Amino acid sequence: MVDLHGQYLKMKKEVDAAIQQVLDSTAFINGPQVKEFCGNLASYLNAKHVIGCANGTDALQIALMALDLQPGDEVISPDFTFIATVEVISLLKLKPVIVDVDPDTFTINTDQVRKAITKKTRAIIPVHLYGQCANIGELKSIVAGQKIAIIEDTAQALGANFNNGKISGKAGTLCEIGCTSFFPSKNLGAYGDGGAMITNDDGIAERLHSIANHGAKVKYYHDEIGVNSRLDTLQAAILNVKLRYLDQYASARRKAAEYYNNRLSGIGKITTPVIATYTDHVFHQYTIKCGDKRDSLKKYLQEKGIPTMIYYPLPMHAQKAFQAKGDFRVSDMLSGSVISLPMHTELTTPEQDYICNTIKDFFS
Ligand SMILES: Cc1ncc(COP(=O)(O)O)c(C=O)c1O
Repeated sequence: MVDLHGQYLKMKKEVDAAIQQVLDSTAFINGPQVKEFCGNLASYLNAKHVIGCANGTDALQIALMALDLQPGDEVISPDFTFIATVEVISLLKLKPVIVDVDPDTFTINTDQVRKAITKKTRAIIPVHLYGQCANIGELKSIVAGQKIAIIEDTAQALGANFNNGKISGKAGTLCEIGCTSFFPSKNLGAYGDGGAMITNDDGIAERLHSIANHGAKVKYYHDEIGVNSRLDTLQAAILNVKLRYLDQYASARRKAAEYYNNRLSGIGKITTPVIATYTDHVFHQYTIKCGDKRDSLKKYLQEKGIPTMIYYPLPMHAQKAFQAKGDFRVSDMLSGSVISLPMHTELTTPEQDYICNTIKDFFS
């Protein structure tokens, strides 16, 4: 699905030098590379603050903690996502309100959000799924004038651009807080775990810093209960190198996606990715819908040596951990019909030809 080794070899010298510098300094915790990387990412995103943390799940948890919500307060999230988005809500004794997604973009269905809002709603966590932005413009107009914060889960869409003519900016910078992950396979992937929170609000930034640091602004003086969640210095050093290539990676992914689109549209029951008008796409995943043929296609591709993944085989409402009631027909349909094909920066045309020809053979 990904070729992290091939990607590493292309920048081996730079990455090795960055790692060696950390080893030589032995500043393994909160070394200068962490501040440097957060500053570089903030400049790239045109955001005021980027606060590193241990992973994307922590980023979401700390973001919710910074909103000072009360047990039982409601947080709306999409049904079709990775568990981290919803898990942190329950972990903090808040109430997850899971809503269905849009059948074309697979991001949160804003009509359902509107219907799900109650007096207890305090936050919404849209997910920029697979690499394109959720409809932030619509969500902002839904919450206008209400005390409802929006936390963008941009773990899969770092570098994507939102623009609806009125609001524009990078994914993760458009609302109160953006949360991202540097899990190795992400578009900006570390060589281990990592995450970050993004905000343009000075007060929120201070809280995020403090909560991620045991609730302390000054060492050994704890204003509140926090957590220990740090971006590792070695990871920050590596990310500093990789950030320089992020736009290049997005272009390579877009080019590969376009090639897939051209080769796969019109074959069998395949629907290629639909990109909403208000966003571009950084193709963290290239995911097609293929109706009731999905499982047999996956098996066929596996037999031909082609890896695929199902993101996600079971929507949140149906997870044993949640068991939510409601109308989730789109995410139910998606979990039975989507398949993600190999998508990464090192994908070659012959590899894509082999994948597309094999899919064509399956449907013929
Ligand atoms: C949408 C989404 N949110 C959150 C996360 C959590 O990130 P991490 O694995 O760094 O905790 C992921 C990572 O897979 C994700 O895809």
